[in-house]
Amino acid sequence: MKRSHSCGALRGADAGKEVILAGWVSGRRDHGGVIFIDLRDREGLTQIVFNPSLSSEISELAHTLRSEFVVRIVGKVSPRPEGTKNSALATGDVEVLASQLEILNPSETPPFPLDEEGVNEDLRLRYRYLDLRRESMAKALRARHQAALAIRRYLDAQGFLEIETPILFKSTPEGAREYLVPSRINPGRFYALPQSPQQFKQLLMVGGVEKYFQIARCFRDEDLRADRQPEFTQIDLEMSFIEREDIYALIEGLVKTVWKEVKGIDLPTPFPRVKYREALDLYGVDKPDRRYGLTLVDFTETFRTSTFKVFQSAVAAGGVVKAFNAKGLAMVTTGQIEDLTNLAKSHGAKGLAWIKVEKGEWKSPIVKFFSEAEKKTLTEKLKVEEGDLLLFGADQWLAACEVLGFVRIRCAEYLEKAGKLKRDPAHLDFHWVVDFPLLRKDPEHPNMVASHHPFTAPVEEDLQWLESEPEKVRGQHYDLVLNGVELGGGSIRIHKGELQDKVFREILKIPADMVTSRFGYMIEALKFGAPPHGGIALGFDRLMALLLGQESIRDVIAFPKNARGQDVMSGSPAEVTARQLKEIHIQVEGVSGS
Ligand code: AMO
Ligand code: AMP
Repeated sequence: MKRSHSCGALRGADAGKEVILAGWVSGRRDHGGVIFIDLRDREGLTQIVFNPSLSSEISELAHTLRSEFVVRIVGKVSPRPEGTKNSALATGDVEVLASQLEILNPSETPPFPLDEEGVNEDLRLRYRYLDLRRESMAKALRARHQAALAIRRYLDAQGFLEIETPILFKSTPEGAREYLVPSRINPGRFYALPQSPQQFKQLLMVGGVEKYFQIARCFRDEDLRADRQPEFTQIDLEMSFIEREDIYALIEGLVKTVWKEVKGIDLPTPFPRVKYREALDLYGVDKPDRRYGLTLVDFTETFRTSTFKVFQSAVAAGGVVKAFNAKGLAMVTTGQIEDLTNLAKSHGAKGLAWIKVEKGEWKSPIVKFFSEAEKKTLTEKLKVEEGDLLLFGADQWLAACEVLGFVRIRCAEYLEKAGKLKRDPAHLDFHWVVDFPLLRKDPEHPNMVASHHPFTAPVEEDLQWLESEPEKVRGQHYDLVLNGVELGGGSIRIHKGELQDKVFREILKIPADMVTSRFGYMIEALKFGAPPHGGIALGFDRLMALLLGQESIRDVIAFPKNARGQDVMSGSPAEVTARQLKEIHIQVEGVSGS
């Protein structure tokens, strides 16, 4: 079924050539008996003309063509008549006058038009194979391929080996909930799907590989969002005999290569570094969007002896008072204030104090509690002007920062809708967030948990506090952030068995038998001459979404799950038969029989 050209290839200079094209009918128009179709393949569109004066037989057949029929045509390239050229189309100078037409396969009427944006996403996912024919999806898949190639070439040139690691792994909690796979031949036992190749890549370092990478599938049973999928892809790598600086330089080079090769954009490097503490203090989040201000300011001292009890008591309890000026947002509606308050409460705040500055007046239920001196300090430090909205958080430092961090982002969305702020996608604010605490409190755990994962090495000079004041110890952990999105994270690892053992048992307080059963092999491996090592993983789906300016990673994945973790095309997850369950020794409530 030979084709002479793709549907994106023909130009004015090809006029007169006899060509064979194949593809999908993307639109059919009837101009007084002459049929025009746009023939589409993955390379583009070409206009085909069926003229009854040339052949009445194929003209009649052309009448039966409908959207998404697959056809093959033979014809002659002809310049389009003056006035009918289409400069928006690469092939817009020419058309093909068809002399043969073969319908390779008809098509049912597509459930949605393939040339329109804004189609319901579940419908697109239900018919993903049609959705993939759309230009934006075809472009995304191609760009993803180009990026993957660029990454492989770059890492190969740096001496990395691409090595696959198991998908059937073992349950070893690293942070997220895991997917479990029952073993038929080992009754009552389970594999777990890997959250990441973390342990294997470290074991590869123990195995002397020195430089490993993988474009790796990872699985996490998490609540899904626009930038989270239950299965996703990481650009995962690990190196031996390195320090943090080596990772920064390597990844800056990699990201630079991808943006250059796929988008033709020269990124300035090195990327700036932001300390975790500073990111929280100013933006209320460890993955700040620094393309706009609205930065948080500390007012703890201002309200230490305030008559406003809410603030004063938070400070007395060892907490802080922080605020930011949502510049120009005094026009918020009561509904929006409620929305902001609910947002704050959903992240654990007791309330969200606010002040609107309108017609020279401070309007707020709490402003009557403020002294003139307090107002003056607020005015100066927040640069308060007519039309502003001030928002406050009073709580322990981390809680106050994080709550205002969420409120700040929502305010930016409001301001952007009102045309008062712009988060320009072309402004690429890559930066490293560094100096994370090694450990953090977790409301679901009685003890501290690793803020990255338990294999992260402490900063050498902070080791002295590991037992006495563990919250003071920084981890050798780094995150790569772009415009408010965590693109990747990694760390230098603990490479000595004794320290790893101690972190599990004494710091994370995991019971000894559990340490042995879950991580024993890791600790053991580290005792056989493990080299110093470290690495990182970048979220490949997130990287592609940011590269292509897509809101959701679903738009850069061929077959993603929807927000409920379902594949609405195949209908997974799905029920299985009682017999299948029996074979894997599983009983499901409500399912009985054999
Ligand atoms: P981490 O858990 O930070 O690190 O993951 C690395 C990057 O993977 C992406 N990512 C996701 N993308 C889509 N959907 C998800 N559910 C999802 N979860 C994570 C993010 C994130 O920054 N083993 C360590 C890396 C290391 O220490 O080397 C790890 O997995 O972009
Ligand atoms: P209350 O005295 O609880 O009615 O609170 C007075 C105002 O302060 C209300 O607008 C609350 O939303 C707000 N508020 C209460 N607690 C906090 C807090 N921890 N941080 C910021 N604002 C708060």
